[in-house]
Amino acid sequence: MTHRIFVTGAAGFIGSNLVDSLLKTENQVMGIDNFDSFYDRTIKEHNLIEALKNPRYRFTEGDIRDPLFIDDCLTSFRPEIIIHLAAKAGVRPSIIDPQEYFNVNVTGTLNILEAMKKNSINKMIFASSSSVYGNNTKVPFSETDNVDYPISPYAASKKAGELLCHTYHSLYRFDIFCLRFFTVYGSRQRPDLAINKFTRALLKDEQILLYGDGSTSRDYTYIDDIIQGITGSVNNLKGYEIINLGESKTISLINLVSVLEKYTKKKARLKYLPMQDGDVIQTFADISKAKKLINYMPQVDIETGIQNYIKSLEY
Ligand SMILES: NC(=O)c1ccc[n+]([C@@H]2O[C@H](COP(=O)([O-])OP(=O)(O)OC[C@H]3O[C@@H](n4cnc5c(N)ncnc54)[C@H](O)[C@@H]3O)[C@@H](O)[C@H]2O)c1
Repeated sequence: MTHRIFVTGAAGFIGSNLVDSLLKTENQVMGIDNFDSFYDRTIKEHNLIEALKNPRYRFTEGDIRDPLFIDDCLTSFRPEIIIHLAAKAGVRPSIIDPQEYFNVNVTGTLNILEAMKKNSINKMIFASSSSVYGNNTKVPFSETDNVDYPISPYAASKKAGELLCHTYHSLYRFDIFCLRFFTVYGSRQRPDLAINKFTRALLKDEQILLYGDGSTSRDYTYIDDIIQGITGSVNNLKGYEIINLGESKTISLINLVSVLEKYTKKKARLKYLPMQDGDVIQTFADISKAKKLINYMPQVDIETGIQNYIKSLEY
């Protein structure tokens, strides 16, 4: 099945990998991104290089906070589906600048939903996050668990995005899946995330700053599995659903360091620092709903994924 697909955040980690994958089949794709300064613009420009060679791809620089820009894009491109990934990502910086996180992640999402209404486009996939579960103690995390207790502005902004998506489903019968990604890693991973930071530190024989005692744990999801979940959603998009996308396995931070040591063939020098505000203790996805609704089946375990990631490093 091929589609006309509009991707926001298309120069970012997940967005650029998604675009490359969508262009492997006959899809027509338009991407937008404002090259937000959260990390270096040159990394994002590099992410776009392969896709820009494809005549079925159109890319425009612009900001989702600008409703006229979004409206113009949708009017000219006329997509069937929007995959909305653009956001201020990252938990810790959201505590420093919560207004900016809400402007982009909430008002930006609202701008897209309004432009969809105006242009009679009614299908969207929204990038939500496992962070909405806060410090949920019941594992694995299920979509039916209560998510009224976020512990960072970023998490609250993602929950607010889900609420807006439901509102537009309810009012205008939009088909929307909110995908809760669990810590994504792989080629082009954001520089602020642990696997990227730790791997680079190891390769350069630098000290690793480890927040907490190493016992916090994450369900790490390989980028190809996330792409599989997104394309499965494109092909099964009906109604409003919230769906977890994780590996449904969990590894502690200290064991993650051991895996990285094994495949970089380096010994870590660790500096322990206090746990940071906003960081959750654990994440662990129940993926039974994803299996049922979108035939999601993660393929890449952490050991294989880390080896692939190390091979992909260019910077
Ligand atoms: N990577 C993860 O582990 C993870 C986990 C859960 C959820 N998510 C969500 O997935 C999505 C993609 O994340 P990512 O890791 O690829 O992050 P990323 O920062 O690499 O990509 C996000 C992109 O959005 C762009 N952007 C930011 N503000 C914008 C604006 N105002 N207008 C237009 N573009 C803007 C950025 O320039 C960036 O290229 C985000 O919504 C993020 O919250 C990611």
